Amino acid sequence: MPRSMSRTPAEVPEAARDDVLQRRPRRLRASLPLRSLVRETRLDRECLVQPFFVAADIDAPAEIASMPGQWRHPVRGVVEASSPTVDAGVGSVLVFGIPTVKDERGVTAADPGGPVPRAITELKSRYPRLVVIADVCLCEYTTHGHCGIVHGTAVDNDETLPLLARAAVAYADAGADIVAPSAMMDGQVGTIRAALDASGHSNVAIMSYAAKYASAFYGPFREAAGSTPAFGDRRAYQMDAGNAREALTEMALDMDEGADILMVKPAGAYLDIIRSARDAFPAPIAAYQVSGEYSMIKAAAARGWLDERGAALESLTAIRRAGADIIISYYATDVATWLEESR
Ligand code: PBG
Repeated sequence: MPRSMSRTPAEVPEAARDDVLQRRPRRLRASLPLRSLVRETRLDRECLVQPFFVAADIDAPAEIASMPGQWRHPVRGVVEASSPTVDAGVGSVLVFGIPTVKDERGVTAADPGGPVPRAITELKSRYPRLVVIADVCLCEYTTHGHCGIVHGTAVDNDETLPLLARAAVAYADAGADIVAPSAMMDGQVGTIRAALDASGHSNVAIMSYAAKYASAFYGPFREAAGSTPAFGDRRAYQMDAGNAREALTEMALDMDEGADILMVKPAGAYLDIIRSARDAFPAPIAAYQVSGEYSMIKAAAARGWLDERGAALESLTAIRRAGADIIISYYATDVATWLEESR
């Protein structure tokens, strides 16, 4: 007798459930070893980059109020400051500088005696194998806090380009492995590539902040770097949060201009952009979990509202799952340590 005929109508729901329960995804979640075996996305410390703030005008580390656990370091202290990162197995750092002197044109960005070149020299002499990435922008070096030369209230794209190129060459001269232009000026990657090649740095790579959005999540960084715009905002050069296709245009241009690595920034609110970057380009894709993403977790954890380690690991796993090969995060050192502890 066929199965269906052996049952009264009242039994049908139960019969249906029997069939459905032949598929049990929970089987593979029953234990930690099983879950580990079938995990699709793995975080590893090799993909992490730890940002550092180096200030020319301080003698002792100063904690950044809006980013608990992150510090401005004196140039002389940068090796000491980075040793926990190196010891945790994080292989790359991203250096930001805070100069003593700012001016209208941000010329100190390219000063070979400025905080970034000096920090790079110190880091590379102590840790030759550490990958040192230098952020290239003018906002930390201009009195008005914009990322380029300002005329009236507008940032002049083309006039800014040579200054960015000069800064990139200064960082390459100091020993940077990678320069990371973040000013969002059109043509910045091509201009920097040409300047690096012309100055004997054809082996220095460019990690382009290709899809960098005008984001409220940069707030704590601007306190850390003293780079809040004195007037207006960055919407005339950074991207609009509503745009996804435009990110592909930006990335295609940067690839054409010679970018070696493409970055999406911020990360957590832009996972779709990371995914489409991964699908569209063969280049390594980096994602920057920015200051606001870090500080949100810190602030909630400080109040006991969420578990810091769980939230940080989950946020970084999500960024990996979306397709990032490289993750820049203020949590890099902590996460590398936690990953090691959980082995
Ligand atoms: C420089 C720069 C910024 C960040 C990285 N490079 C600030 C900005 O664009 O306003 C933000 C990083 C962060 O928030 O962690 N232009």
